[in-house]
Amino acid sequence: MKILFAASECYPFAKTGGLGDVVGALPKELIKCGAEVRVILPKYGDIPEAFVKDMKHITDFYFFVSWRNQYCGIEELQYEGVTYYFIYNEYYFKRSGYYGYYDDGEKFVYFSKAIVECIKAIGFKPDIIHCHDWHTALIPFFVKKIFSDDFYKDIRTVLTIHNLKYQGVFPKDVLGDLLGIGESYFNTEDFEFYGAVNFLKTGIIYSDSVTTVSPTYAQEIQYEYFGEKLDGLLRKNNFKLKGILNGIDYELYNPEKDNHLKQRYKDSYAVKLKNKLEFQKMFSLPQNKDIPMISIVSRLTEQKGIDLIQAVIHEILVMDIQLAVLGSGEYKYEQLFKDLVWQYPDKIRVFIKFDELLSRRIYAASDMMLMPSRYEPCGLTQMIAMKYGAVPIVRKTGGLNDTVTSYEEDTSRGTGFVFNNYNAHEFLFTVQRAVRLYYDNKEEWDKLFNNAIAEDLSWKKSASAYFQNYNDIKYHETGRN
Ligand code: ADP
Ligand code: GLC
Repeated sequence: MKILFAASECYPFAKTGGLGDVVGALPKELIKCGAEVRVILPKYGDIPEAFVKDMKHITDFYFFVSWRNQYCGIEELQYEGVTYYFIYNEYYFKRSGYYGYYDDGEKFVYFSKAIVECIKAIGFKPDIIHCHDWHTALIPFFVKKIFSDDFYKDIRTVLTIHNLKYQGVFPKDVLGDLLGIGESYFNTEDFEFYGAVNFLKTGIIYSDSVTTVSPTYAQEIQYEYFGEKLDGLLRKNNFKLKGILNGIDYELYNPEKDNHLKQRYKDSYAVKLKNKLEFQKMFSLPQNKDIPMISIVSRLTEQKGIDLIQAVIHEILVMDIQLAVLGSGEYKYEQLFKDLVWQYPDKIRVFIKFDELLSRRIYAASDMMLMPSRYEPCGLTQMIAMKYGAVPIVRKTGGLNDTVTSYEEDTSRGTGFVFNNYNAHEFLFTVQRAVRLYYDNKEEWDKLFNNAIAEDLSWKKSASAYFQNYNDIKYHETGRN
């Protein structure tokens, strides 16, 4: 079984969130299942030089992005048992950051088409191209409709939706200007979406299988509230829709092996505490091992429930706690946290940036992690938190529902605190309940800590579910033209 992962992010080369984690980890697990997996990415200007210097140029060619004749270099890197290919074009990719440019649509049309072009040039014919999010969602369309060569005939495609909110919606003229196809494709069965063109929609229609990153989210997105205007299409295609839960990479997120920590630990709270004391010292917070350290490591966007945090932040900060915030995103949320530092200098530290190393130190220093998401396709943060012994406080939605079980006092079962409604006071009461338990019942807190840290969050089960899915579609009729 030969699989090609096509994605816009992959740790450790490029990551802005969980997509990068998944594309970094899942191929390695699939290889353990017996698949041959290779990964193809853009050669971004921000990829660390340590990797760039080992890349080997293997071929190059030109191809058309509609009327533009564009260069495409292919570089290869062997890293930790996986073959990575990087699409090299300085015009599109030698910039800082990955997204947010005026020509994102063109960039990812170029990238997607380059992938389909290059598999022939490099002589790697995958059984399956596994696409991720809107950036590579046009590949199934290219394979089925545009590349008529027999080489492409048996290739199947899987599209994984990591976040339905981001769909790649562009004006109608991209059909001619970027894809070089006629107006006949501007209809609801191909591209049309409320008067515009929607790459993710086309991906859902043309791929042989659609997956998303948790079973709960796979259900939720078929309802209007979570469906981002694609719920109807997803209901119609639910015969090929599956929810497969993400895992975390235990080679990477493991307090026993994590070199970034002051003190490594397996499952001892007493040893973990040294990381809290170190964090307090490093960032000039009062050093006290008994104060619960609560943390937020997050993109600061509406999705993550920052509105709920904002609504009750003063009630949270009057408690005897410390709060560590690491994140970046919307200006208003960044400002919210920055202002709090002036108001509560002994209680809160705020880091507005993306910092992998600091994130590990925060996980290790924390007793609790807040994730009151409005919606959450899967969420890796709560899983990493559990693995590092930080008890997650989450809203019952998406993957949070599938990975965190609510603590029950009667049975001492559960791995975190879970609340139901998107309601600031329900969230506040849950935080207060957690803090109360931490202070008033150390014995119970220990049990909760042990439950969380012992939870199996590995990729093993999910990787075999993906593998099974590849097998299921390998010999499907594709309906190709
Ligand atoms: P999402 O992909 O929606 O942002 P996830 O919970 O799936 O959320 O994954 C987030 C990933 O990004 C985790 O690995 C988390 O540790 C990391 N992360 C989020 N914000 C930051 C940040 N500011 N600095 C470092 N890592 C971060
Ligand atoms: C998206 C989602 C997040 C998920 C991640 C990886 O960024 O927001 O919930 O964990 O993708 O699948």
